Amino acid sequence: MKGKTTMSQLNERVIVVTGGAGGMGLAIARALKERGARVIATDLREPQDPIDGVEFARHDITSERDWDTVIASAIDRFGRLDGLVNNAGWGELAPFQQTETEMFEKTLRVNQIGTFLGMKKAAEAMKDKGGAIVNIASCVSMRGVAGQFAYSTSKWAVRGMTKCAALDLAAHGIRVNSVNPGPTDTPMIAAFPGEMRAAVQSMIPMGRFGDPREIAATTAFLLSDDASYITGAEVEVDGGFFA
Ligand SMILES: NC(=O)c1ccc[n+]([C@@H]2O[C@H](COP(=O)([O-])OP(=O)(O)OC[C@H]3O[C@@H](n4cnc5c(N)ncnc54)[C@H](O)[C@@H]3O)[C@@H](O)[C@H]2O)c1
Repeated sequence: MKGKTTMSQLNERVIVVTGGAGGMGLAIARALKERGARVIATDLREPQDPIDGVEFARHDITSERDWDTVIASAIDRFGRLDGLVNNAGWGELAPFQQTETEMFEKTLRVNQIGTFLGMKKAAEAMKDKGGAIVNIASCVSMRGVAGQFAYSTSKWAVRGMTKCAALDLAAHGIRVNSVNPGPTDTPMIAAFPGEMRAAVQSMIPMGRFGDPREIAATTAFLLSDDASYITGAEVEVDGGFFA
């Protein structure tokens, strides 16, 4: 039965969202703000469409020094940190045989080391009073995927780090979960050639790409007290793609 729905609330929670200049990160920042959070969106590049009331900071997630600055300025500005969304990511599609070492290292540096540094710095800031971290992995972390060796394996690492960090941080009241988006309508997917987009769409049981707001709503839920007993979990938001 369809009825009125309610949103998980994030009143006054202070949350950093990486990769917040566009695509999914922008949708996540907007959704968190709508639910009452104080949001700091960060990215290498300027936001496409800045959101009123969301602060923005330039930030390279592969730089430990940048992380120190971002977390310190969130605490200076708002007095504490309650949450982190490790959303920034990078990928180039290539099969194993055409995966050059430099490209593999860059993919791991952004997707794995960037996520590691974010969890490490946020956990240090949240260790006394708890908090929540959501890592945006991908449905390609759920099984082997042809033609995207570096990207897929880096997202397997994000999924694995989520579970290991969740175990180590549980006693500090810090929950760590991952969201695995399926093909979602963002600039990353828009950049695919037309025939490739059509082929991917035809493989989605629900017959359409995800809307970034659907990834954002799941992320907001995992950051909220509605998910207070969920840690080390992964949620597929993929229209049944990898069911
Ligand atoms: N769009 C999809 O279909 C899809 C599916 C599964 C997972 N994902 C994941 O969701 C996340 C968001 O993807 P998107 O589709 O919005 O992609 P996007 O390319 O639009 O956004 C990624 C953002 O990350 C930023 N970024 C890249 N490297 C960075 C760095 N070193 N430091 C800081 N920021 C950096 C980029 O500037 C960009 O704004 C990514 O982690 C991606 O892997 C996307």
